[in-house]
Amino acid sequence: MTMTPSSPSPALPDELAARLDGIELPDPLGFSRLMAPVMSVAYYRDGAWETPRLTGLDPLPLAPHTQALHYGQAIFEGMKAYRNLGDDLDAPTLLFRPYEHARRFNRSAARLGMPELDEQVFVTALEELVGTLERLVPSRQGQSLYLRPTMFGATADLSVVPSTEFCFLICATPSDAFFTTPISAWIERHYSRAGAGGTGNVKAAGNYAASFAAAAPLRENGFHQLLWLDAVEHRYVEEFTAMNVFTRRGDVLVTPPLSDTILAGITRDSLLALGPSFGLKMEERPIDIHELTDAVAAGEDVEVFGCGTGAVVAPVELLGDETGLRLPLPDRSVALDLRGRLLDIQHGISAAPDGWQWPV
Ligand code: PLP
Ligand code: COI
Repeated sequence: MTMTPSSPSPALPDELAARLDGIELPDPLGFSRLMAPVMSVAYYRDGAWETPRLTGLDPLPLAPHTQALHYGQAIFEGMKAYRNLGDDLDAPTLLFRPYEHARRFNRSAARLGMPELDEQVFVTALEELVGTLERLVPSRQGQSLYLRPTMFGATADLSVVPSTEFCFLICATPSDAFFTTPISAWIERHYSRAGAGGTGNVKAAGNYAASFAAAAPLRENGFHQLLWLDAVEHRYVEEFTAMNVFTRRGDVLVTPPLSDTILAGITRDSLLALGPSFGLKMEERPIDIHELTDAVAAGEDVEVFGCGTGAVVAPVELLGDETGLRLPLPDRSVALDLRGRLLDIQHGISAAPDGWQWPV
C-alpha cells in the first residue's frame, strides 16, 4: 500500500513575504537557532519529479509507516550561500560550488536506491530559495545561510524494498561557522564510522545517527569532534564526524586518500587546490594514528585540522582519547591561513576557479 503526503500547494509570493516580514537574525546566530520560514519542496511519483516549489516551513504530513522512518532511506547535503563582500561579482549572495553538491547528492541517492535529481533542477531550486531568503543571508565574514537539501523515501509501506515515492526539500538556517575557536578531537578507539562497501562515502542520514552513541564520552570529556579510525585495524585516520581531516608536517599537508569509507568533501577538494599557492606540498596518503600522536608528543612541527562546509577549516588544539591521552597542538597558523583564504573566496573577496562562486 502506498500513501504519500499530498504536495503542498504553491505558496503565493505575498504569503511567503508575510512569513519573512519582521524576522530578525538572532545574536549570536549559532546553528539552526532560526530556521528560515520558507523552504523548497518536490515529490517524486510515478517515476518522475515534480518541479520544486517554495512553501512555508510547515510540518510534513507523514504516515507512521513512512519508509524513511523505519529503514533510513534518507540522504542530505550541507551547503552555504555567503554574502558577497567583494567588488568583482555583481550579486548579493554567492553559493559555493553548488554543482559539486548536486553531483554528490546524486551519488548519495544512487547508493541508497533513490532517484537522481537533475543537477540543474537542484541548483535552480537553491537559487530560487536563496533569492527569496536574501534578507536572511548574514553579512559578517564566516557567517552564511546554511542550506540543507534532503531526500527521503516517502512511501508508507513496511516492506523492506526501496520506496517508490520520495520527498526532496531544501530548508535553510542563517548560521555562524560551526567552530569559531580551535577544537579538541577525541580519537575513537572502539566504534567505527564506516566499513568497506558501506555508505561512509555518501551523506546517508544513518551515518550520523550511528555516531551518536560514540559521541557520549566525547561530550562528557568536553571534546568537540570524534576522530574516526579505519574499521579493520583502528590504525589509520579516516575523518571527523562532520569534517575531513588534514595534518601538516613541515610544508607537507596530508589528507587520507578517498575510499568507500571517506566522504569526498568539497572543502577537502578546495583545500587540495588552494594549498600549493601557500607553498605547501599536498599528499593524499594514509595517516597512521601512532605516527601522528608520536610526532605531536615529541614536539615536532605538526598541525591537525578538520574541514567541511559547516566548519570551514577548524584547527585542532588538543587530541585525546579514552585512555587519558591528552596532546596539545600549539601551532594552528597554516589552518588559519587556509581558513582565511577559503572564506575570502566564499565571500567573493578573492578570485576562485570557475564554478566555485555562484552568484545569486
Ligand atoms: N565528512 C563528513 C562525514 C561530513 O559530514 C562532511 C560535511 O559535509 C565532510 C566530511 C565535509 O564535506 P564538505 O566539505 O563537502 O562539506
Ligand atoms: C556540513 O558540514 O554541512 C555537514 O553536512 C555536516 C553536518 C553533519 C552538520
